[in-house]
Amino acid sequence: MRKVNVGILGCGVISNTYIRDMKRFYTSLHLAACADINVGLAKAHAEKYGIALSCSPEELLAMKEVELIVNLTPPGLHGELNRKILEAGKHVYCEKPFALTVEEAKEVMDLAKEKNLLIGSAPDTFLGSSLQTCRKLLDDGWIGTPLYATANMTSIGVETWHPAPENFYRKGAGPLYDMGPYYFTALAALLGPVESISAFCATGFSERTIYAGPHAGGQLSVETPTHYSGVARLLSGVIVSLNLSFDIWHSNLPNMEIYGTEGTLEIPDPNMSGGKPRIYRKERTLDPLYDDSIETREKKGVSVEVPELYPHIGDYTRGSGVFDLACAVVEGRRPRVNAEMACHVVEVITGMMESAETKKVYEMKTSCERPLPLTLGADGIITK
Ligand SMILES: NC(=O)c1ccc[n+]([C@@H]2O[C@H](COP(=O)([O-])OP(=O)(O)OC[C@H]3O[C@@H](n4cnc5c(N)ncnc54)[C@H](O)[C@@H]3O)[C@@H](O)[C@H]2O)c1
Repeated sequence: MRKVNVGILGCGVISNTYIRDMKRFYTSLHLAACADINVGLAKAHAEKYGIALSCSPEELLAMKEVELIVNLTPPGLHGELNRKILEAGKHVYCEKPFALTVEEAKEVMDLAKEKNLLIGSAPDTFLGSSLQTCRKLLDDGWIGTPLYATANMTSIGVETWHPAPENFYRKGAGPLYDMGPYYFTALAALLGPVESISAFCATGFSERTIYAGPHAGGQLSVETPTHYSGVARLLSGVIVSLNLSFDIWHSNLPNMEIYGTEGTLEIPDPNMSGGKPRIYRKERTLDPLYDDSIETREKKGVSVEVPELYPHIGDYTRGSGVFDLACAVVEGRRPRVNAEMACHVVEVITGMMESAETKKVYEMKTSCERPLPLTLGADGIITK
């Protein structure tokens, strides 16, 4: 594949992971320049990672040789900056959430269509070895027809590790915007789009103690609900129970499980790119009816670990989505990390919030297709 010139917009925490992994695994992405509103930070990044140019956001947008910009700025700026990137004639890959509202997401999608440019959005973890293996197991019928699923993001929030946790508890933030995209994208990529959703929400703590960073020992005020429990019905008929919470110290709920007519698929953390799925086939329950041996009885209730069927390039990685988008640009195809799925995920988030506020079931208006799976046996989308 020919090289695609990429610019990084926003040189904060997550840009380190992107730059590291794009340089390690996706060498046809040429990191041409990095920019930040804090130009000194962009300069330090360019020196640290051997990127030829560092500049202001305006200079990056004006750079003719840059074809694709990776938007790694804070969530509240995504819509506005994505529009500016498209207006400058460049393809855009945006960190999650793609937008804060469906209207904003659609506006950006329409502009991309008008300009004949492509959009990709995080999360790209569904392209990792773990979730692609789950997709293959589902498509090959290992658990039969999916009937139900559960997805649970249970945590005590970010104030035990993040240096600036306040933003996660402001209006328009919270667990749905921060972690929802991983779970909702994984569900869409594995099982297809949501048809309707209902939810309740709560705020477990109105004030929270900060345990890390420069404000450790201080308190922060909570302006957003920090716990959502909901139920979604997918277009396929699958019913999904959901919990997304910053209020839980510890839980034994699984990250994700899919329950099918023939068994259960246990899915590793969708925030990660690696992890081994587990399968429980119905035979493990039925075999003791035919063979009453100790060995057969001991297998009842015990799932089996499945090896990952795609390259495991690490657990916490980023860049496969940018690479998929660049391939789509070069090959003239639709990206797997496509805008319709990102827009649908934004509506799942806002739909859950609306349902919790109105106490009514929210009927989804957007939809998306399951993205094509990676090819088994190839090196996936990785080039070295
Ligand atoms: N930190 C993580 O672990 C993590 C993980 C996955 C996804 N994300 C997502 O990545 C995005 C960035 O998160 P982060 O943690 O790196 O944030 P951050 O605050 O560390 O970095 C954001 C950077 O954007 C810069 N910026 C602000 N306004 C700008 C503008 N107008 N133009 C150019 N640059 C501007 C800031 O100066 C800062 O350097 C968010 O959408 C977040 O949801 C973060």
